[in-house]
Amino acid sequence: MSNAFVRVCGLSELEDDTPKRVEIDGTPVSVVRTEGEVFAIHDICSHANVSLSEGEVDDCHIECWLHGSRFDLRSGKPDALPATRPVPVYPVKIEGDDVLVSLSQES
Ligand code: FES
Repeated sequence: MSNAFVRVCGLSELEDDTPKRVEIDGTPVSVVRTEGEVFAIHDICSHANVSLSEGEVDDCHIECWLHGSRFDLRSGKPDALPATRPVPVYPVKIEGDDVLVSLSQES
């Protein structure tokens, strides 16, 4: 798997606080524009097989709609049970209108 940055969408396609699900090499990623930044977080909850991009975004967290754990978009860490393990977050680059994400987990 490559750790190169790949274009996932246009910046203008992202609405504030509305997650967009994309796939990179078959890996589901939720791309979120909020508070003037763009974040990329693995799209599957660490508690069960639920798509985080279907949840709500608030205060730089994305909420799993099934049981309500909220994951910090900066660190991937949950702030409430039942999830206890973090979800991977991925580095993002903006180039013009292009949103680029790398599956590397180094930030
Ligand atoms: S499936 Fe996400 S908190 Fe349970």
